[in-house]
Amino acid sequence: MKIIIINGPNLNLLGTRETQIYGSDTLETIQKEVNSQFTNLKISWHQTNLEGEIVDLVHKANKDYDGIVINPAGYSHTSVAILDALSILKIPIVEVHLSNVYKREDFRSTMLTAKASDAIIAGCGKEGYSLALKYITQLKRN
Ligand code: DQA
Repeated sequence: MKIIIINGPNLNLLGTRETQIYGSDTLETIQKEVNSQFTNLKISWHQTNLEGEIVDLVHKANKDYDGIVINPAGYSHTSVAILDALSILKIPIVEVHLSNVYKREDFRSTMLTAKASDAIIAGCGKEGYSLALKYITQLKRN
């Protein structure tokens, strides 16, 4: 099973960015940890700060992957383009947020891209990625 994990803007700075909210692990550390828990999956990780690049990766997901895990970061609250791209997909989509966006500023409660997701995981920190993969693999078995 092949899964693509897409991380949006500023997530390249995990480990140093607002550690009280996002934790002290870097994206690379999270990636290694999650990969080691799912050695049966082919996981392709991506991070980009550019909205259009996320759209391109989402298009690619439909052809090449069995599921998608996406943390669109700040674009979650604003991007019609990413929502539209996700809406085209026929594979399972799980949106992950490290923080509980509903406990934070009001604007983070507007969840635009999540309207295309099958499931949302927010507030579980890095564990959110593992939970998302667990969910997608279970779906496939049912
Ligand atoms: C985030 C939450 C977003 O509101 C924020 O803009 C991010 C990270 C999260 O993982 O908690 O960049 O998606």
